[in-house]
Amino acid sequence: MTLAALFLCLFPLVTVSVLAQDVVYNSIHNVTTIYGTWSSGSQNVVTGYGFAQPANMSFTYPKTTGMSYSFTTDGYYEIARYRMKGNGSSPNCITGVMNWCHGTYQLQSNGSITMVPFEDGYQQVQDPCAAISNFIENYNDTELYVQWNIYQDPTLGYMLQLYQFDGSPLPPMAQLSTSPNMLPTQPLRNVSASSSKSQKRDLEALVRRASGSRRRWGGVGGAGGVVGVLVAVTGLGVAALLL
Ligand SMILES: *[C@@H]1O[C@H](CO)[C@@H](O)[C@H](O)[C@H]1NC(C)=O
Ligand SMILES: *[C@@H]1O[C@H](CO)[C@@H](O)[C@H](O)[C@H]1NC(C)=O
Ligand SMILES: *[C@@H]1O[C@H](CO)[C@@H](O)[C@H](O)[C@H]1NC(C)=O
Ligand SMILES: *[C@@H]1O[C@H](CO)[C@@H](O)[C@H](O)[C@H]1NC(C)=O
Ligand SMILES: *[C@@H]1O[C@H](CO)[C@@H](O)[C@H](O)[C@H]1NC(C)=O
Ligand SMILES: *[C@@H]1O[C@H](CO)[C@@H](O)[C@H](O)[C@H]1NC(C)=O
Repeated sequence: MTLAALFLCLFPLVTVSVLAQDVVYNSIHNVTTIYGTWSSGSQNVVTGYGFAQPANMSFTYPKTTGMSYSFTTDGYYEIARYRMKGNGSSPNCITGVMNWCHGTYQLQSNGSITMVPFEDGYQQVQDPCAAISNFIENYNDTELYVQWNIYQDPTLGYMLQLYQFDGSPLPPMAQLSTSPNMLPTQPLRNVSASSSKSQKRDLEALVRRASGSRRRWGGVGGAGGVVGVLVAVTGLGVAALLL
């Protein structure tokens, strides 16, 4: 083999290793594995049974806001989130969002995590100041977390820190269990068959007028279409923490 041929063989490897800056999963990066169930704050939000009932697109509201992530050893994830967003200019306009999704995740060599949902995710938005104050829509966003690490807190134990697509950190989450607490890791409802076309169009228009801009949790990729299951206003647990 000539020197030039050798160079051609090696060159791709050299550029890849220079550009990729592969993450090193040492104990500084993660003192334990990511597998299991994690929950923020007072840990009332937990994935699995007791948060989302995908078959009828309902939620059981936790006592306080927060978020929970679960990861299996074979590449499945589930997310449960309950968030309230205050509004500085209109203090009475507190928007509440319950969000649930699951699918498959990958730990990328550049240190990020990508999460690709099954198409059965959904969320409920309660906005007392909007024309439609309470609706449920599909949630089908692919999410990118640019970085993560796990450290040990002296009192709370193992803590998972995720960084969103824009680099902003999520609240740290404590490890609730090393075996994940999750709903079955497969699509749990049929998305497109849930309403007739004409109904769906009308509701989409209504919801678009009501909500204006898209609501998301910082994912990448397309937003879920609106299914348009309108539900009665149930009132928010305003005592919950504002995130
Ligand atoms: C950190 O995470 C990596 C990737 O999942 C895993 O291979 C490694 O065992 C973890 N480190 C510790 C100390 O558990
Ligand atoms: C949805 O299903 C769950 C369990 O299957 C049930 O407990 C709940 O009452 C149902 N909710 C609605 C709004 O139908
Ligand atoms: C705050 O509420 C007002 C009135 O409903 C609305 O116009 C505005 O967009 C809201 N701001 C945010 C940040 O949600
Ligand atoms: C890391 O890899 C993921 C998946 O390939 C990609 O979407 C993301 O943009 C990469 N991040 C950086 C900083 O290159
Ligand atoms: C979706 O619909 C198909 C055909 O009607 C049915 O066989 C399947 O069980 C449904 N899946 C779910 C998750 O409900
Ligand atoms: C969900 O998102 C994927 C990827 O963006 C897309 O291919 C798929 O059609 C979406 N499904 C629904 C039901 O919106």
